[in-house]
Amino acid sequence: MVTKIIHADRETITPDDLAEAGEIIRGGGLVAFPTETVYGLGGNALDPDASARIYAAKGRPSDNPLIVHIADMSELAPLANEIPPMAKSLAGRWWPGPMTLIMKKSPAVPRATTGGLETVAVRMPSHPVAAALIRAAGVPIAAPSANLSGRPSPTSASHVIEDLDGRVDMIIDGGNSDIGLESTIIDLTGEEPELLRPGFVTIEEIRALTGSAGVDPAVFAPPSEDLRPKAPGMKYRHYAPKAPLTIVEGEAEAVAARIGGLCREAAASGKRCGVICSRQMAGRIDAPLIRILGEEGSADDAARSLFAALREMDEKEADLIYAESLPDEGLGMAVMNRLRKAAGYNIIRV
Ligand code: TXA
Ligand code: MG
Repeated sequence: MVTKIIHADRETITPDDLAEAGEIIRGGGLVAFPTETVYGLGGNALDPDASARIYAAKGRPSDNPLIVHIADMSELAPLANEIPPMAKSLAGRWWPGPMTLIMKKSPAVPRATTGGLETVAVRMPSHPVAAALIRAAGVPIAAPSANLSGRPSPTSASHVIEDLDGRVDMIIDGGNSDIGLESTIIDLTGEEPELLRPGFVTIEEIRALTGSAGVDPAVFAPPSEDLRPKAPGMKYRHYAPKAPLTIVEGEAEAVAARIGGLCREAAASGKRCGVICSRQMAGRIDAPLIRILGEEGSADDAARSLFAALREMDEKEADLIYAESLPDEGLGMAVMNRLRKAAGYNIIRV
């Protein structure tokens, strides 16, 4: 299929383009669109065939549920069996925004959209183009990240084009994603709220509002027989660049020395080493390929640049990749969750 690519200069998307995009979604087609977190691959959430097309376009296993995107609070009730009081307070604080809530689903949501589960994940994005698209479609939009399964989530239209050109009806180019990591997922179907995927809305902020909240242990450690992530998508090999990636943790000087040594060893055996790190760390290291994420200790910078950096390591054909770590707090927890997955939990402590 020929993919139509249109530009939406953040707030400005022409009414004609919007009407066409909405028509595609209503007709069962697929439109990739910008959100404040990452780009989404959207289809009509209430149409099982549209969900099947989403899975096919991404090459995604169909037991991995999709997030349903809405533009208005009134669209929530028809999707959920019941709206827990906690959903109202969390949504009141963070919607529209980078937070997804899991609730019991209503019969209106097809199991094809929820990967066979009786629960549904719902998010109200704040990106004006995403909100306008949902309104133009007139139906809730199911949207996973708009990457091929297993690749890093797309934070620019060029990433989406790389993965999905020819596989979807339309791609809306709205520039770079503001946040750069997928939404925080909170499960509201248990006794207390539980964080299933860390994101821009942090566990510290959630607890400040809800009193207590658990964290799925799978956020920190690799999935295993005993440790099955509650968000099915978190069990898959994710974000992984082609070359093996290793995280190097410790005091800055020691980390710089170790990465420098590893890169010299690599060079001696004819291998090209890529490093993903802060500006300050880059100043301490000599390596053939360095991708700076931003300022030292800035989780915002790292969140915004991490997925593009992983894609760049593939493009520039690094044979081995080393990355600096961040403290596991605030937004750093989300950055490290994605980085540990990308590294297949390969970590050197110095
Ligand atoms: O920021 C985001 O959330 C982006 C943008 C496009 O909104 N979307 C996104 O979707 O990251 P996706 O499909 O790449 O990740 C959705 C995650 C998966 O890990 C999936 O397993 C989990 O949400 N999920 C969805 N529905 C669920 C449910 N009912 N119960 C548990 N986990 C669920
Ligand atoms: Mg994804």
